[in-house]
Amino acid sequence: MTAPVLSVRRLVKEYGEGDAKVRALRGVDLDVERGDYVAVMGASGSGKSTLMNILGCLDVPTSGRYLIDGADVGELDEHRLAVLRNRRVGFVFQSFNLIPRMSALANVELPLAYGGIGRAERRSRALAALERVGLADRVHHEPNQLSGGQQQRVAVARALVTAPALLLADEPTGNLDTASTRDVLRVLDELSVSGRTIVLITHENDVAAHAKRVIRLVDGEIVEDRRQAPVDGPPPRPAEAAA
Ligand SMILES: Nc1ncnc2c1ncn2[C@@H]1O[C@H](COP(=O)(O)OP(=O)(O)OP(=O)(O)O)[C@@H](O)[C@H]1O
Ligand SMILES: [Mg+2]
Repeated sequence: MTAPVLSVRRLVKEYGEGDAKVRALRGVDLDVERGDYVAVMGASGSGKSTLMNILGCLDVPTSGRYLIDGADVGELDEHRLAVLRNRRVGFVFQSFNLIPRMSALANVELPLAYGGIGRAERRSRALAALERVGLADRVHHEPNQLSGGQQQRVAVARALVTAPALLLADEPTGNLDTASTRDVLRVLDELSVSGRTIVLITHENDVAAHAKRVIRLVDGEIVEDRRQAPVDGPPPRPAEAAA
């Protein structure tokens, strides 16, 4: 068996000091295998974003271990951590976080520019990513010329363009209407079927229903971890049906 895409052990995160100290994560153990689609659920304040920020190497735990593809994140220096963050993890946030007055195409090219990839290849990979999320006809639009769902699909394309091992999404449909939510979830379903590993945070059952596995956090602890048959997934491709 190959190493899990991510593996955390006794993960603890505390914010603040003394009387103001908050224990946001209280010893989380979690393995996510390649190709899994995990929904992390829990009430507001239960530690979902804290966990996601650590999984995405945007924040460091107070204690505990975190391995990505078997590599111990705590032992990497700043440079190697930045490389890992750029190449191995893609993020989608509730608020899209696109750069205004830059085209969809330029937004999607950005992670490749940071990765030092040349102009022509940047362009072709960004176009392919935008096509994949159904936005081939919107590549020159700026964020304010796109609907919320379209903006979030640009954000998904930006997260995918580096071909990361792991896609992390924190309430990606939290600001979207029903139709846009459906569009974004369809893209995630397709990515899951094509073998991408996804960890999605949500407090909506309808959204979590798309995942293969649901984890529930209460006060910084995992209290439930179950597998389910995802709803509304696209039909498996012939090659996968045979596997
Ligand atoms: N930077 C911070 N400084 C101090 N406390 C924090 C900080 N970030 C989060 N917390 C606290 O840690 C706990 C977990 O917060 P977190 O943002 O992970 O919750 P969440 O499950 O994502 O909630 P929501 O559904 O509202 O987004 C909360 O009690 C929160 O107040
Ligand atoms: Mg949150």
